[in-house]
Amino acid sequence: MSSRPIIAPSILASDFANLEREITMINNSEADWIHVDIMDGVFVPNISMGLPVVEAVNRHATKPLDVHLMIVQPERFVEAFRKAGAEVISVHVEACPHLHRNIQQIKALGCKAGVAINPHTSVFELENVIADLDLVCVMSVNPGFGGQKFIENTYAKVRQLKELIVETNSAARIEIDGGVNMQNAKLLLDAGADVLVAGNFVFSAPDPLDVIQQLKGISVTTV
Ligand code: DX5
Ligand code: ZN
Repeated sequence: MSSRPIIAPSILASDFANLEREITMINNSEADWIHVDIMDGVFVPNISMGLPVVEAVNRHATKPLDVHLMIVQPERFVEAFRKAGAEVISVHVEACPHLHRNIQQIKALGCKAGVAINPHTSVFELENVIADLDLVCVMSVNPGFGGQKFIENTYAKVRQLKELIVETNSAARIEIDGGVNMQNAKLLLDAGADVLVAGNFVFSAPDPLDVIQQLKGISVTTV
């Protein structure tokens, strides 16, 4: 059997002064989701965009918004992001002392629930919540900035996570976020990844539509 990956371009790398044009490009592409990075300058050393921008993106987007919250106390904002158009919301395990409650809150809003893990965080931190999750976002760079170098240890983490998902009969998809390109995409998918986020690789390319098509076209053999 073979399957196709879910492709989620990250608009962090897009031209914010021409956001409507960038969203239209994604609408017209083979991408599946639009990845939206929210940074608070506290959990990560950078600030990106907030609710009014997400609302504006949602007015033009024809594809689901995959919102990645790199913020402390995400429970204060998940409802507002849901109202702004989020269909998938991921919170960071490192920012959530009450992660189980946070996941239930996201699901109660009718969103798909995701948890993101930093490069130093073991996948086994998720052992007790994996059955409840729709998505695990494995950070393959330290969160906060686009355009960073992919961390090679990610492959081993994806394999461990895939085993955990199979063992627990979880429906969670594995998303890879950071430094994704044509050199690592197939290896990640073969290791068990389902969703590829790509920022600079898509938006710095002369032909972003073609790059999205190339990523989408990677065929993964499953047993
Ligand atoms: C990093 C963000 C990523 C980023 C990926 O903190 O979570 O989503 O936009 O960008 P690239 O693909 O350029 O590494
Ligand atoms: Zn992200």
